[in-house]
Amino acid sequence: MKTSRTAVLVKPDGLQRGLIGEIINRFEKKGLKLIGLKMLIMIDEQLSDWYVEHKDKSFFGELKSFMGSMPIVAMVWEGIDAVPVVRKLVGTTLGREAEAGSIRGDFGMSQQFNLIHASVNGEEAVREIKIIFSEDELFNYAGVMETVIYTDFELNSLKK
Ligand code: CMP
Repeated sequence: MKTSRTAVLVKPDGLQRGLIGEIINRFEKKGLKLIGLKMLIMIDEQLSDWYVEHKDKSFFGELKSFMGSMPIVAMVWEGIDAVPVVRKLVGTTLGREAEAGSIRGDFGMSQQFNLIHASVNGEEAVREIKIIFSEDELFNYAGVMETVIYTDFELNSLKK
C-alpha cells in the first residue's frame, strides 16, 4: 500500500460543460483528499512540457492550442494508490467507449474532448504537478474522515 499524489486537469471542454463540481464531488465521495486546486490558462511552455510524449503526434499542435484556448482547473489529489484510483474514476481515453460509471463514460463522446486528464503513473504525477504547482501551493492536513475511510493499518501506511 502506498500513498500517492496525482494530477488532474479539467480541460476546457469540462469547464464549458459545467462539470467542475461533478468531478470534484466524485473524487471527494470516493475518499480522496484534495491538496491543491488552481484555475489557470496554461501557457505554451507548460503545454509543451505537459504533452512532451505526444510531441511527434499529428494532433500535438491542435491539442496544445485547444488546451491553451481557455481556462482549465488543475487539482492534486492524494490517497492510497491515488494514481490508479483516479484513472479508474476517469475512464479510458475515448469517451464513447469509456466504461459507464466513469467520468468519461458518463459524460463524454470524443477522443480529444475527453473532459479530463489524470496522471498515468506516479513518476508522471510528480512531473506534472511541478509544471503547475509550487510546493507551497500543496497542502498537508489531516482529513477528519480519514479514520472511517481507512483502517488504522492503512492510515499508518499513509504516514510512511
Ligand atoms: P489525455 O490522455 O489526457 O492526454 C493526451 C490527450 O491527447 C488525450 O487526453 C486527448 O485529449 C488527446 N488526444 C489523444 N488522441 C488524440 C487524437 N487522435 N486527436 C486529437 N487529440 C487526441
